[in-house]
Amino acid sequence: MGLLRSSMCKQAQLESSTFKDWALRMHEDPHHLHRKIWEYEFVAQALFERDMLRSGRRGLGFAVGRESLPALFASMGCEILATDLDYEKAARGKWVETAQYAGSLEALNAKGVCDDKEFRDRVAFRFLDMRALPDDLGVFDFLWSSCSLEHLGTLALGEKFIQESLKYLRPGGIAVHTTEYNLSSNFFTLSRGQTVLYRRKDIERIATDLRQRGCSIDLDFTQGDGPHDRFVDRPPYKNPVHLRLKIWGHVVTSFGLIIQKA
Ligand SMILES: C[S@@+](CC[C@H](N)C(=O)[O-])C[C@H]1O[C@@H](n2cnc3c(N)ncnc32)[C@H](O)[C@@H]1O
Repeated sequence: MGLLRSSMCKQAQLESSTFKDWALRMHEDPHHLHRKIWEYEFVAQALFERDMLRSGRRGLGFAVGRESLPALFASMGCEILATDLDYEKAARGKWVETAQYAGSLEALNAKGVCDDKEFRDRVAFRFLDMRALPDDLGVFDFLWSSCSLEHLGTLALGEKFIQESLKYLRPGGIAVHTTEYNLSSNFFTLSRGQTVLYRRKDIERIATDLRQRGCSIDLDFTQGDGPHDRFVDRPPYKNPVHLRLKIWGHVVTSFGLIIQKA
């Protein structure tokens, strides 16, 4: 597999030994063709290839929910600050009742991905609202968010988060984000609400802005064309193959952004 770029070729990537290895390390089923699992593996592989996942590296995770990424990165020697909304705001956003919120340090290693002592030594947790980024977090080698920036209320707020969170990176640091991508239209979309959907033109605008700030970002809009890539899951989203789905009439998949700070 070449160096990972923004990508939507999920079936081929999920079936690669590289991505299956990440699934096993996170105690996920390596045969499960699910876009959420792809997102975790995409983040891990993008950071690994850029030499971010080793002892001495510091990482910052946003809206970590119940992800295993903080535990995975800690098991590889990184120091991690994992963040998410406070309980009250998360409950208001229905993240608690839909079991997508952990809200505590211990819950982030529930699957035992990292040795317990190493996890406690290397991972810290704090509440943080991605719409109001504080100035006292420090500087990190890398940061990431998975399936979160589309939940900030508007397309513009997600975009603002991508730009402003760069302040936490040292020069040359890496940011990796995954978000919802609208495959149906480059015009009609969901631009406000609990979930928004980024179109190709939105991603291109974000990339142009980042390049103007001196960042590197490499886009690839190639869509996977495997049979599982083409399958569209519909509510109640119970199909074991779930790489594309239909939301409010739009066909959607996840898109990954890999950004290097100037
Ligand atoms: C769909 S879940 C994703 C959780 C996790 N990142 C994952 O991929 O499994 C959305 C997450 O976004 C968090 N979230 C929503 N709005 C947020 C905000 N304004 N600031 C920080 N986190 C937020 C929720 O608490 C929840 O953990």
